[in-house]
Amino acid sequence: MIYQIYPRSFLDSNGDGVGDLPGIASKLDYLRWLGVDAIWLSPIYPSPMADFGYDITNYTDVHPLFGTLQDLDTLLHKVHQRDLKLILDFVPNHTSDEHPWFQQARSSRMNEQRDWYIWHDPAPDGGPPNNWTSRFGGSAWQFDEQTEQYYLHVYDVKQPDLNWRNPQVRQTMFDVMRFWLDRGVDGFRVDALEVLLKDEQFRDNPVNPLWKPGDPFYTRLLEDYVVDQPGMHAIMQEMRTLTESYSQRVLIGELYLPLERLMPYYGEQLDEIHLPFNFQFVTMPTWEASTIRQVVDAYEAALPEGAWPNWVLGNHDRSRIATRVGHEQARLTQMLLLTLRGTPTCYYGEELGMQDIALPREVMQDPLAREHPEYSRDPVRSPMQWDRSPNAGFCPPGTEPWLPLPADYQQINVAVEREDPHSLLTLTRRLIELRRSTLALTTGSYCPIEGVPDGCFVYLRQASSQRYLVALNFSGQEQTLKLSEMGHGRIVLSTYLDREEPIDLALLRLRSDEGNVIELANL
Ligand code: NOJ
Repeated sequence: MIYQIYPRSFLDSNGDGVGDLPGIASKLDYLRWLGVDAIWLSPIYPSPMADFGYDITNYTDVHPLFGTLQDLDTLLHKVHQRDLKLILDFVPNHTSDEHPWFQQARSSRMNEQRDWYIWHDPAPDGGPPNNWTSRFGGSAWQFDEQTEQYYLHVYDVKQPDLNWRNPQVRQTMFDVMRFWLDRGVDGFRVDALEVLLKDEQFRDNPVNPLWKPGDPFYTRLLEDYVVDQPGMHAIMQEMRTLTESYSQRVLIGELYLPLERLMPYYGEQLDEIHLPFNFQFVTMPTWEASTIRQVVDAYEAALPEGAWPNWVLGNHDRSRIATRVGHEQARLTQMLLLTLRGTPTCYYGEELGMQDIALPREVMQDPLAREHPEYSRDPVRSPMQWDRSPNAGFCPPGTEPWLPLPADYQQINVAVEREDPHSLLTLTRRLIELRRSTLALTTGSYCPIEGVPDGCFVYLRQASSQRYLVALNFSGQEQTLKLSEMGHGRIVLSTYLDREEPIDLALLRLRSDEGNVIELANL
């Protein structure tokens, strides 16, 4: 399992209200206890923090808020000592506007680094060169008074896009990857991959014919000329070749794309991204057994031969799963995540059932919230809840955490849940343990089971003669499953954590929001 840490929010070791690398290092034994395999850190590089680290001023150093390069080396060493892996966030699409490269580029049209970014003359009326919009609101073009051209920013105005058509940019960014791989980092989660190249002719994006007022502002235009442009796969292959020149490293891609455009990122010869993030569960509008099954089946069917799947329930940009589905179903979703075929990613706190926090507009810090508070991502980035002490053990008492803690941290925290044999944390740990020790649940095949009541999703995982049935009841009421053709078995784990017993599959009762993992007897 990959565990995503948002470094600002994991553990503050020095009392400045912001999490840091020594804080993360001090919690590795917790992650090991939980059963994590790899840790992905959101950006830890020097940054003015306009987008909390996704606006970088130096790709080969550590922000003093988080520690030093030495702290990163120490963390890496401790991670490897525990047989864990460390994956860094790599942000190739844009830098900070305060990066020395951009400072150079904007200093004059003649500057050698001018072409490292994407500049364009104004339209004849002096306005932006085309209709492209920023994903954070407003035009994607910012006029530069001094040189009288616009620069492109797909995200915040303080995040100018690099020009990946420039060979020096590519080489420099590949050198950044080498810098970290040489240090022993185990791979990268690559940010905003789908927008890395833009249309060379800068054509207007078409208006989305389905858009209506009230829909998210960033879906008003179709991003036809910004997303997934020709030329991407050659770059992906280069990234992969570089990565493969080191042993045992991984490339994970952030790609919000429909399945038919996502799958090609594995590469025709499986020579591109190892794990193009599968956001099907994150973007699903409704959370119902039938849609979940459809999503799983469609994803499984679309996977190229030999490609390894992956599943994600949430991240630092999207509402937390326990908020989207509620506390009861959060348990079911952990069972789903940890019994499907493919690498699961867990966003910190998901294992506890942490929810989005309520936050007044005045204290929001996310740049997205400036124009669109309803899309603020602050609520999903609140401090990790370690224990019942003031500040939940995230930062020393008397320190103000960078974002507030919710009232429920008294119950929802690591210390309390660790001692509770029925907690979500205990369930998550047991699921990971079971998965790790059961071939059918790790590399076994996936096969959905037909003829189950509405509201239930049931599937078989099988590796040679080992067969496990996963039966999930999302319906909110008791359901009876009649699967006599499955014979007998033994419930090895229930989401209620209260039964492990032999079972005749001719009559399987599932309580409301109950999921079971059942080891089937040989037929
Ligand atoms: C995706 C990241 O996950 C998000 O947090 C960030 O704002 C944008 N990319 C821009 O880097």
